Amino acid sequence: MRTEVIIIGAGPAGLMLGRLLELAGVDAIILERKSPDYVLGRIRAGVLEQGSMDLMDRAGVGARMHAEGLIHHGVELSFDGDRQRLDFTDLIGRHVMVYGQTEVTRDLMAARKAQTIYDAENVELHDFDTNPHVTYTKDGVTHRIDCRFIAGCDGFHGVSRQSVPQSALTTFERVYPFGWLGILVDKPPVADELIYAHHARGFALCSQRSPTRSRYYVQVPTDEKVEAWSDDRFWDELRARLNPETAEALQTGSSIEKSIAPLRSFVAEPLRFGCLFLAGDAAHIVPPTGAKGLNLAMSDVAVLADALIEAVSEKSEAGINAYSAKVLDRIWKAERFSWWMTSLLHTFPDAGAFGRRIQRADFDYLASSRIAQQSLAENYTGLPS
Ligand code: APR
Ligand code: PHB
Repeated sequence: MRTEVIIIGAGPAGLMLGRLLELAGVDAIILERKSPDYVLGRIRAGVLEQGSMDLMDRAGVGARMHAEGLIHHGVELSFDGDRQRLDFTDLIGRHVMVYGQTEVTRDLMAARKAQTIYDAENVELHDFDTNPHVTYTKDGVTHRIDCRFIAGCDGFHGVSRQSVPQSALTTFERVYPFGWLGILVDKPPVADELIYAHHARGFALCSQRSPTRSRYYVQVPTDEKVEAWSDDRFWDELRARLNPETAEALQTGSSIEKSIAPLRSFVAEPLRFGCLFLAGDAAHIVPPTGAKGLNLAMSDVAVLADALIEAVSEKSEAGINAYSAKVLDRIWKAERFSWWMTSLLHTFPDAGAFGRRIQRADFDYLASSRIAQQSLAENYTGLPS
């Protein structure tokens, strides 16, 4: 079998890239290790920047997002119970959209007419410097697909980045000494907007998926086990970290999902190796505090799609040559912002009294400076590509 582009991974990065190529008439096959149900069962963040909304529209899959997504004009920050609302629309003239990654994935899957091969095991990338091809096993049979380009959109643990010789890759990493315990519940959100809360007991986030479905998180130590957290224990801990008025208004219920995700910052450089390109979580990880993971994946593949379309149609190789440097510039800015929000809002075991005072000063500066608020708003709503 032969195609122009093989895309490894049917997460939001792979599916969006596949959709953009499909619309441009570029032949591409997606190879995904898991089943469609498994992919759709993953619960992840749900805040879209304007650029991601625009890309959904460009991909022809924006209708449900516009109908069901919730436009958010701001967020609340809370520091030891002191509240500060940031009005993005007033500060910077932009807003974000709350629409779950699961829904983005569902819309992209539904729109795709070209071939996606699910349950593809043992995916291996070969000769991506000279004669690129990919092999995989399905139902016990090994297959080979030849191509011109390979897009590694297979997430942090995927095979694509691992196929690159170590000597060709530089990685940058920070692992945080905590994770987020998240809970999904069919109760109305505690507030209209998201609340990011710093508290001496640890960070908490009040988020939402719809007017009747809420998503809440609390910071927990890295080695915490989800089994140790009954719903009641979760709600008690969340209430303790929120300002008393918010805690009072919280509507609790039985969780429909509960999981712990570690926090990590990670960047690989470069993002092109001959005919292989890395995008999304395969290329970088941000801690979820700034809600940048999905948005970065979207901005990577928007650039990669244009570059591949140009290259496949023999117009120019300028786009594929510029891809790595271009997206890394934006990636590092999002890494900085996500690291900064994480540093401001979490408790760190080794912060000491000095570190805690600096966090407080950071919050007080933010609360008192419109310029600082504009900077946060500019980053949160999304820097230009
Ligand atoms: N072969 C084929 N598919 C693979 C392999 C493999 N060896 N390894 C991983 N995959 C698939 C995974 O099953 C998954 O469906 O690649 C897909 C990667 O999807 P994501 O992890 O969602 O990554 P990405 O599409 O880059 O989306 C980034 O996901 O983690 C969040 O915060 C992140 O929102 C951001 C988004
Ligand atoms: C979420 O709703 O899951 C969510 C929202 C904002 C974040 C992280 C996660 O910063």
